[in-house]
Amino acid sequence: MIERVESLGAAALAELEAGPLEESWLADFEVRVLGKKGSLTLLLRETGSLPGPERPAFGAKVNAVKAAVQERLGERRARAAQAGLAARLEAERLDVTLPGRPLRWGGVHPLTRMTWEICDIFGRLGFNVEGGPELEDEFHNFDALNMPADHPARDGMDSYYLEGAGPGGARGVLRTHTSSVQVRVLRRRKLPLRMLAPGRVYRRDAADATHGAQFHQVEGLAVDRFGAVRFSDLKGTLEAFARLMFGRRLGVRLRPSHFGFTEPSVEVDVQCFQCQGSGCALCRRSGYIEVMGAGMVHPGVFRACGHDPEATAGFAFGMGVERIAMLRWGIPDIRLFTENDPRFLAQF
Ligand code: PHE
Repeated sequence: MIERVESLGAAALAELEAGPLEESWLADFEVRVLGKKGSLTLLLRETGSLPGPERPAFGAKVNAVKAAVQERLGERRARAAQAGLAARLEAERLDVTLPGRPLRWGGVHPLTRMTWEICDIFGRLGFNVEGGPELEDEFHNFDALNMPADHPARDGMDSYYLEGAGPGGARGVLRTHTSSVQVRVLRRRKLPLRMLAPGRVYRRDAADATHGAQFHQVEGLAVDRFGAVRFSDLKGTLEAFARLMFGRRLGVRLRPSHFGFTEPSVEVDVQCFQCQGSGCALCRRSGYIEVMGAGMVHPGVFRACGHDPEATAGFAFGMGVERIAMLRWGIPDIRLFTENDPRFLAQF
């Protein structure tokens, strides 16, 4: 019997030595030889069939052989783990000297960039940025701006109304211009003030190459005591803007116009920055490009906002951000701004 134990042990050790250095194989070996029904474990069961005096020696022998196999198995396991790590390091080898793959960078949207540029230019002239809600009420968007209820711009054709969205359940209106922010700021701020209001505006316009139901404006407003802000200050401010925006000294032309909230009111044309006034396709041979509306603040606006119209004066202007961006960067269609085509966006 003792010999059987020894030869079984020797065979097990030999098999272990010849087996592969793999954890899965070693685990299987452990079950086959040392496990509950393993060949060496089963030998112990035979102890009972031996004559009494031989039992202790037999049991001790089996346990000694088991311990030897167990120890060797532990060593093989340690080597298998090492070999596995080495193989993984080899397989996962990384060449850190290879050139990287370039990332696709996102960027600031051209309309955001243009808004920043406009605000930056007027910021240098002392205007600071204010804001107001896009969902307005008729008081701020129309009434306080001297646009009475029968004014054509209040016609349902041009504005989006929301029933019950205004104060006290009155109807609200998606602001049709950033001029509503003039009213909010005039009502809460002390004079003098110079403010800008960039933001989104909404009109019921059919979409084409130069129109959309939603676009962006930047509003400007400068107010001081009567005599301290004049029409010539408006023109000088706009000349400075044209020079800084289009990069050269360009003529500014004012044409009479009409807005309820300014008097006098003007359309502002800037000499064409491409042909400098001689006439080209961009300015449709006129030499000038229309860039914004402007004027001197109407006394009715001051009155509605709690300022003495006799003692107060100011100018205001409002420009379309899309329009300025299209002129500056030669963009042919306003819809490009909202299509999110990376080939377009990557150019800014
Ligand atoms: N709110 C006018 C518009 O949307 C522009 C404007 C602003 C005109 C300020 C005069 C003064 O067309």
